[in-house]
Amino acid sequence: MQKFSVDKSGFYGEFGGAYIPEILHRCVTELQDSYLEILESDAFREEFNRLLRDYVGRPSPLYLSGYLSARHGCRVYLKREDLNHTGAHKINNTIGQILVAKQLGKSRIIAETGAGQHGVATATVCALMQMECIVYMGKTDVERQAVNVRKMEMLGATVVPVTSGNMTLKDATNEAIRDWCCNPANTHYIIGSTVGPHPYPDMVARLQSVISEEIGRQLMEKENRPSPDYLVACVGGGSNAAGTIYHFLAEERVKIVLAEAGGKGIHSGESAATIQIGTEGIIHGCKTLVMQTEDGQITEPYSISAGLDYPGIGPIHAHLAKTRRAKVVAVNDDEALRAGLALTRNEGIIPALESAHAIAALDKIRFNQGDLVVLTLSGRGDKDLETYFKINDIIE
Ligand SMILES: Cc1ncc(COP(=O)(O)O)c(C=O)c1O
Repeated sequence: MQKFSVDKSGFYGEFGGAYIPEILHRCVTELQDSYLEILESDAFREEFNRLLRDYVGRPSPLYLSGYLSARHGCRVYLKREDLNHTGAHKINNTIGQILVAKQLGKSRIIAETGAGQHGVATATVCALMQMECIVYMGKTDVERQAVNVRKMEMLGATVVPVTSGNMTLKDATNEAIRDWCCNPANTHYIIGSTVGPHPYPDMVARLQSVISEEIGRQLMEKENRPSPDYLVACVGGGSNAAGTIYHFLAEERVKIVLAEAGGKGIHSGESAATIQIGTEGIIHGCKTLVMQTEDGQITEPYSISAGLDYPGIGPIHAHLAKTRRAKVVAVNDDEALRAGLALTRNEGIIPALESAHAIAALDKIRFNQGDLVVLTLSGRGDKDLETYFKINDIIE
């Protein structure tokens, strides 16, 4: 059997590790040395579970979608992370990390954000814990996710628009790392996905694994089965996917489908289909698949969905793809938009554009009648309404 847990140096097979500048060595090592002890302590578990239940509203429902089940000729359940406080799965991770930051005695929080969901989730927990919060966000994303910017500011965060590169998630992450280098002693960097140097991919996957823990329990209640035939999730950096598959990884009969952003087509030069067109490289402190030129310059990614617009991928997912444990499909912008609108019209659920990629991926799989499928609806579409309105007007 393949090994999917992280080793002592932070590797999943050949991917992972911690490639960091000297100045960050102390705080990254401090985190590496303490995260497992903190996450596994009774005090942490009690507070984390209390906040997930009473503040976030967990467990999130597992909902049998009549529309998707009829369309695909099998039973399709939606794991409703869109119903969480702040509208996405990102809050699971930020609640956990702010508790870790407090335990480490940090007073200042920084974060990067693409779609703004992680930024809002970070600003929210900082308001809850009364901690200073600075969120770096590419200027392109500031413009396409304006409501989330206003929300972060309302919550008391400072949003810093980043104007380097194509002004999206990669550039925001660069700026956040630069800030961390200048303020290593008092600052905790809440990374929003299963990316970055070890221990972030493992820490974020563990914090998001509440998703798969609940799926197992809920399937038992609803279907009298402990696991599904398929798990489907979109991947930006990979946190909702990692959380969805965490407790099922060792069960080889559970098929994993990861949907990445095909943008305008994976060979169009305008996509973020990192797993399919990326090559091995280092980005933001981690060895993984990276969209890059032959001489190692990062290629600018593109997706209609700000949360998937990233030229790297979590090392867990790079490893899952390389070992063929996961099937990876690219979903283009227009396929995602249409799938999102179809769910809206036929099920009364407006999904985030990121999640709409996972829904569209179902069309690329041939299911059998008895199959049991669980798809993680990672977030709600409120932040994407402007984009949906445009395409809806064209279709009408
Ligand atoms: C709703 C939603 N889903 C998915 C993602 C992608 O992130 P990840 O791959 O870490 O789940 C984002 C990122 O912002 C998001 O906002």
